[in-house]
Amino acid sequence: MKTQQRTLAIIKPDAVKKNATGDILNSIYAAGFRIIGMHMLEINTEQAQGFYAVHAGKPFFNSLCTFMSSGPIVVLALEKESAIADWRKLMGATNPANAEAGTIRKKWASSIESNAVHGSDAEDTARFELSYFFPGYELF
Ligand code: CMP
Repeated sequence: MKTQQRTLAIIKPDAVKKNATGDILNSIYAAGFRIIGMHMLEINTEQAQGFYAVHAGKPFFNSLCTFMSSGPIVVLALEKESAIADWRKLMGATNPANAEAGTIRKKWASSIESNAVHGSDAEDTARFELSYFFPGYELF
């Protein structure tokens, strides 16, 4: 039996404002992910700073945290084999200027900051990021 893996995905404020949520959810299902947790919520800048603590001190940190608290987001717990790598492939490059055709960022992102979606980049960050938004008992 193949091992299932979990990752944390976020539909960011820019994509929610563009009403891209449904299209992005369709892409997630079409790519074979199971959605095992989903919330729409707004976070404040302190919560964004906690989530993105690994980027603290980088030149884009304050602006990123202000942006992430600028409106509703949708947080998703995704599951499939190779979920972390497959979700990153489906998102496309962080900078939409470099994103491949067919990726979510190519379609919906407008800049390196307003880049529509987020995904965990490794198993340890996925564990931290999933626990940030989903207590374990909430996941199906
Ligand atoms: P994300 O995958 O959520 O991880 C960190 C975020 O920081 C990234 O997407 C971008 O939205 C944002 N960001 C802004 N500027 C930069 C930059 N120069 N390099 C990397 N990430 C950036």
